[in-house]
Amino acid sequence: MADKDDVIKLLQQNVAPDVPRAEFSAVELNKKVFRVKRGNSSWILKKTEEGTKELLVHRLFSSYKVSQFDQWVLNENWICMTDLGLPILGEVLNSVGFTRESSGFFYAIGRVATSAFVAGMRDRNLGNVLYDVHLKRCYHVDYTSGLEERLSDRLFRPHRLLAYLIGRLYLDILSGIKEHKADFPPHSFETFYSGIRDEAKRMADCTIPLHISGKIVWKPYILRTHSLLGKIDSLWPKAVRLASRKYLERLPEHWRPQVFIG
Ligand SMILES: Nc1ncnc2c1ncn2[C@@H]1O[C@H](COP(=O)(O)OP(=O)(O)OP(=O)(O)O)[C@@H](O)[C@H]1O
Ligand SMILES: [Mg+2]
Repeated sequence: MADKDDVIKLLQQNVAPDVPRAEFSAVELNKKVFRVKRGNSSWILKKTEEGTKELLVHRLFSSYKVSQFDQWVLNENWICMTDLGLPILGEVLNSVGFTRESSGFFYAIGRVATSAFVAGMRDRNLGNVLYDVHLKRCYHVDYTSGLEERLSDRLFRPHRLLAYLIGRLYLDILSGIKEHKADFPPHSFETFYSGIRDEAKRMADCTIPLHISGKIVWKPYILRTHSLLGKIDSLWPKAVRLASRKYLERLPEHWRPQVFIG
């Protein structure tokens, strides 16, 4: 079990060995994740058994020019990323004036759903995506679930991951908003889908360098997933039907009829 002192020492050794330890301070976000500060600089350090995989997902996203934080592996147990001090989605839903901002917000959520889809990422709960209110942009954190969706599912049932992402990133958000007694955000589903499609078009033009796809044990996975970017439109109706069967109950009843019709 690491404590704040261990984490500060680890960061200090890696970023500024000559700087006195007293200049760093740390806060424990949970048992595995710490925020360390020095002056205006801030880092997130995370204990992980899968640092190499997280780095691979990071590199994959870099090839796709997906917005993300710098990330590096400190040792076999710890990764580190720059901290922009952004809130998680769960916190954004509490913020005042949210519904006025909802159009850019749902568009950004759609875009981040596409990168999750391509990277076969599950575990996209409201604590694993951050939102920049000013740039209206989302960022994934927690890459441990990257490349997790099985290749056979990607090949034969790709709409399932899309449906899951509709559940996690759209319906869960709506139910979070509902808890805060806002009105139904108009056109939010269409906007969410526009974000998905635009990001898919943008990513489809990117190439994954061989030195990255070659490192992925799941190389066919990435190639296959890339080709799905051009098929989002045809997968979408099936994904929406599955999401409405499987995940709609997360919403309060009187919101359900409005959901997929905008
Ligand atoms: N780059 C970051 N910027 C701001 N906050 C972050 C960042 N990375 C993580 N956090 C905060 O720390 C929390 C936990 O981080 P993360 O989701 O990576 O770990 P975890 O959930 O403990 O890991 P796992 O899901 O692999 O068990 C996040 O929900 C978020 O609040
Ligand atoms: Mg997490």
